[in-house]
Amino acid sequence: MSNVLRLAIVDPDDTQRESLKSMLLGMDMIWLEAECSRYEFFGDVVSQTTPDIGLVCIDADPEKGLQLVGQLGETSPNCAVLVVSSSNDGNLILQALRSGAKEFLTQPVRLEDLLGALGRISERRFGRGENRPRGSQLIAVAGATGGVGTTSLAVNLGCDLAADEGNSVALVDLDLCLGDADVFLDTIPDYTLVDVAQNVTRLDFTLLKRSLTKHASGLYLLPRPVQLEDVALITAEDLQRVIGLLKATFTHVVLDLSKAYSPIDMLALEMANHVLLVTQLDLPCLRNIVRMMVSFEAIDGLKDKVKIVVNRAGLDNGQITQKKAEETIGKEIFWQLPNDYRTMVEVRNNGVPLLEQAPKAAITQSVQALAQALCGDETATLPLAESGKTSVLSRLFSFGAHK
Ligand SMILES: Nc1ncnc2c1ncn2[C@@H]1O[C@H](COP(=O)(O)OP(=O)(O)O)[C@@H](O)[C@H]1O
Ligand SMILES: [Mg+2]
Repeated sequence: MSNVLRLAIVDPDDTQRESLKSMLLGMDMIWLEAECSRYEFFGDVVSQTTPDIGLVCIDADPEKGLQLVGQLGETSPNCAVLVVSSSNDGNLILQALRSGAKEFLTQPVRLEDLLGALGRISERRFGRGENRPRGSQLIAVAGATGGVGTTSLAVNLGCDLAADEGNSVALVDLDLCLGDADVFLDTIPDYTLVDVAQNVTRLDFTLLKRSLTKHASGLYLLPRPVQLEDVALITAEDLQRVIGLLKATFTHVVLDLSKAYSPIDMLALEMANHVLLVTQLDLPCLRNIVRMMVSFEAIDGLKDKVKIVVNRAGLDNGQITQKKAEETIGKEIFWQLPNDYRTMVEVRNNGVPLLEQAPKAAITQSVQALAQALCGDETATLPLAESGKTSVLSRLFSFGAHK
C-alpha cells in the first residue's frame, strides 16, 4: 500500500516493547523503521531514520520520556509523536500533549485505540478524500437469489487479487449458516468467524493471521461457524470490529454475503467500498434487484456503490436482454461473466480456483478482468454496459446479450 506509515518505537522495558511491536508488525499500514531501548538515543534515531511516527512509551521514566517528547518536537517536527503510558492521569496526559504529543494511549494498548490513533495520524499526513493514497479495499459480493454464483465469484475474485504479490487478501464467509467458501478452497480451517469475533478485542495481528486459513493461492480465509448454534453469537458490532482489524491487516478484504440480507449482511454492505450484486438475466432475479434497490436507499451511499454483475451470461434459456434488464432495474450492468457450467462445477468439486483449474477459460479471464477493473488500473477496462457500444470483452466472449 502506498499510504504506509513508517514508525520508530522507544521503550526501555523489553517485554512491553516486544508486545507493542508484535501488534504493529502485522499491520500493512505500518512499517517498523527502528526500535530503541534508551530515551537518550531516540532523538538521534528519529533524526536519522525520519519516521512518520515516533512511539514513546514513558512508563520506565515518565519525566525523561516527556522530555524526549518535547525534544522531538523541536528536532523532528515532522514526526508525529504517540505517547504510551499505563497511567491515565489527566495531568500526565495534559503534560504529554503540551510537550507536543499528537496522541496518547494507555497500556495495555487496545488494538482498536491504536488503529484509531494511527488512522488520525495517517489522515493528517496523507489527507482525506480524492488525493488520498488508497487504503484497504472492502468488496462485498451479494446475490439476487440463491445459487446465482456469489460464492463462485467471491472466491475466485479473492484468488485473482491474491495472485498479485503486492496484495494481501482475505475472504470472509458471511453466509453464516450455509456458507461453502471452505469447500471451494478445499480447506479444513482450525478457526472460524465465531472464534475471531469473540476474541477480537484481545487479538493482535499475528494471532489474527494465525486464525485464518491460508490457501495455496495466497488468499486467507475466515470461514463461517461450524455449528449452526454459534451463528447467533456473532453480532453486527463484533463484525464491525473484525472488518476493521482485517482492513488494517490486508490490502483487500472480500466478503461473501448470505441471501438473508440480515443485519450482518447489511453492515457488510454499508462498510464496503464496492458492492458486487450478482444476478442472472431472469425475471425473479431482476425483480429482487428492483426491490433491493428501493431498500438500499435507506443506507447512505449504498445504491451508488452497487455494481450489477450478470453471471452465466449467454445461457440459452430465453434470457432477458441486457438492454431490457438495464431498463427494468434502472442501472447499468457493470460486468458479465460467461456461462460455463462444466468448469464451474469442476472448480467447486475439485476445490481449486479457476486460475489453477482453467487458466485460459473465458470465465477465468473475465473474473480476472473484473478484479482488475475494480482494484487495478481503472482505465484499463471499461464496464461492459455502455449503451450502444460493443465493448472489447463482449466481443471477446460473444455473450449474445447485446441482441
Ligand atoms: N458462470 C457460471 N457458469 C455456470 N455455472 C456457474 C457459474 N457461476 C456459478 N455457477 C454454478 O452455480 C452454482 C451456484 O454457485 P454459487 O457460487 O454456490 O452460488 P451462490 O453462492 O450465489 O449460492 C454452482 O454449481 C456453480 O458451479
Ligand atoms: Mg454461496
